[in-house]
Amino acid sequence: MDTTLIKTVNKLQDAFATVGVQNPVDLPQIIVIGSQSSGKSSVLENIVGRDFLPRGTGIVTRRPLVLQLINRPANETPNNDTPKTNGETPKPNGVTKDTKPKDSKEGDEWGEFLHIPGQKFYDFDKIREEIVKDTELKTGKNAGISSQPINLRVYSPNVLTLTLVDLPGLTKVPVGDQPKDIEKQIREMILKYITKPNSIILAVTPANTDLANSDGLKMAREVDPEGSRTIGVLTKVDLMDQGTDVVDILAGRIIPLRLGYVPVVNRGQKDIETKKAITSALENERKYFEDHPAYKSKAQYCGTPFLARKLNMILMHHIRTTLPEIKAKIQATLLKYQNELLTLGDPINDGGHNHANLVLNIITEFCSEFRTIIDGNSNELSS
Ligand code: GDP
Ligand code: NA
Ligand code: MG
Repeated sequence: MDTTLIKTVNKLQDAFATVGVQNPVDLPQIIVIGSQSSGKSSVLENIVGRDFLPRGTGIVTRRPLVLQLINRPANETPNNDTPKTNGETPKPNGVTKDTKPKDSKEGDEWGEFLHIPGQKFYDFDKIREEIVKDTELKTGKNAGISSQPINLRVYSPNVLTLTLVDLPGLTKVPVGDQPKDIEKQIREMILKYITKPNSIILAVTPANTDLANSDGLKMAREVDPEGSRTIGVLTKVDLMDQGTDVVDILAGRIIPLRLGYVPVVNRGQKDIETKKAITSALENERKYFEDHPAYKSKAQYCGTPFLARKLNMILMHHIRTTLPEIKAKIQATLLKYQNELLTLGDPINDGGHNHANLVLNIITEFCSEFRTIIDGNSNELSS
């Protein structure tokens, strides 16, 4: 299964965002939710294999972060954006021995923000600074939250192609000059994302707390009562009381989810303070599950690399099943712009600077790309 499909969806999403339309075709995204400090940022950083998210106390994530991960084989020239479809299986983080994010050469991995077109961030500390800067620009230093997303793409040979959305954590108590109704605001923002029927909910719950009290799972249940598009992520498995484990949860005996649960071990607070590298954290996680008496027989279904693969497969499956609907919506949008263009007159006479013409070009380009892929996948689609 190649990742061209997801890459095209990502491009299309960007094309629409560039002309000021947010997600016009409800493209599938994986939405990360959970209470504050449940480990959402840690899970995301482990999936990417790099430190790049703002850390601290209080509500650090105050705008949605739409994170597009794009797998890109190493030693390809940085400017070559062509999706690779050589059938090579992408290597998820923590699986390969040669994954060395810290000293990987410039050009292997970088980030790009939609609001700073053309600028490649090779320094992931700078990515974090930019997220903080742009968050403060739209929301103020300690004040509220904003539903205006930050769009970040990360290209790397060490990621699987996925789109993830990080949202503010569920919180109870406003701090500093945060608005009194901050909890309600955050709930509404999360609901807006997870209500979409084709979103996939990643509900993060610390394993050392009662699953029945999980804010993330409770909210997921409101919009997905059957649990058919919710994945449970159990963090802090290493912090559970001696002699207790998550085996009953994994077996679906506590709160069953059709897509199941994945237990993970992220870096603890001390690891972050001592700047423990994510690569050694992933190695540590692997050993933890392989050596643990309760998990060793199912270690291949535990940990971040398995979570990343599972998410990638779910996303592919999801996009394939919604393709006919997406296609119809793109065609309707295309028709709308074509009609708009007709009412504006001949676009050739204004030297190509016509805004509608630009929009039309972008959409036409992506529609044809999309059609190629749809045709290419028609066998699998009908099966
Ligand atoms: P967020 O607020 O949901 O984004 O949570 P963070 O990812 O910032 O994590 C909150 C705190 O929990 C940090 O100090 C992390 O180091 C710690 N933490 C997260 N996951 C784990 C885990 O699996 N094990 C341990 N020991 N600590 C974790
Ligand atoms: Na939670
Ligand atoms: Mg966070």
